[in-house]
Amino acid sequence: MSWPMALIYDHWMHPAESAGLREWRAELVRDLAGVVLEIGAGTGAMLPHYPLAIRRLVLAEPDRHMRRRLAAKCTRLVLPPIELCEASAERLPFPDASCDAVVSTLVLCSVRSPPAALAEVVRVLRPGGRFLFLEHVVADARSTRFLWQRGLEPIWRQCAGNCHLTRDTEREIARAGLAVEAIERQSLRKVMPFLRPSIRGLARKPLA
Ligand SMILES: C[S@@+](CC[C@H](N)C(=O)[O-])C[C@H]1O[C@@H](n2cnc3c(N)ncnc32)[C@H](O)[C@@H]1O
Repeated sequence: MSWPMALIYDHWMHPAESAGLREWRAELVRDLAGVVLEIGAGTGAMLPHYPLAIRRLVLAEPDRHMRRRLAAKCTRLVLPPIELCEASAERLPFPDASCDAVVSTLVLCSVRSPPAALAEVVRVLRPGGRFLFLEHVVADARSTRFLWQRGLEPIWRQCAGNCHLTRDTEREIARAGLAVEAIERQSLRKVMPFLRPSIRGLARKPLA
């Protein structure tokens, strides 16, 4: 993601955050504890919502412009013990089964390979560990919105840091072997119409 995107990101997302996204974020992570990894942490939109009960919070963000803003935000908030790391979701520098939970918000649309990223999520989660997700996704294939998504995707990817509009992230999560325990499918408010379909919820790494 280029520096202009990092520069405008918080401002651009402000209407959506105020229209309910902030509450979705808070609800997603409110009972987390132990060792938590957030992939694609961006400018730190999740930071105000992490409970202080978290023992170690690792923020992975590959883009240096985003990471600089993330680091600045970390200094302004009261947070659990925190670690910033330059890592892509497809290659996480952490041992197997080392995390109690992994968080991904608005990231799987942009990664190079969702299957590779989710395979890494599964690898670093301990058995029974939780994957918390909040992602914008493909619209119903019979809808006009889907046709817009498909038409706009090539140019949108160029403008918005490889953000894809037609990813079926729910299917990718299940394909990765995570068991979806809770999922909400709702429209993100105050974003462009082609970004509205969203999913959020909890998937768990099986115990065996
Ligand atoms: C739309 S922003 C979302 C930022 C933040 N998670 C949020 O909820 O506001 C997408 C983020 O994913 C990051 N990203 C892109 N490709 C990635 C990858 N392969 N692995 C991890 N993060 C990636 C980008 O650098 C950017 O910070």
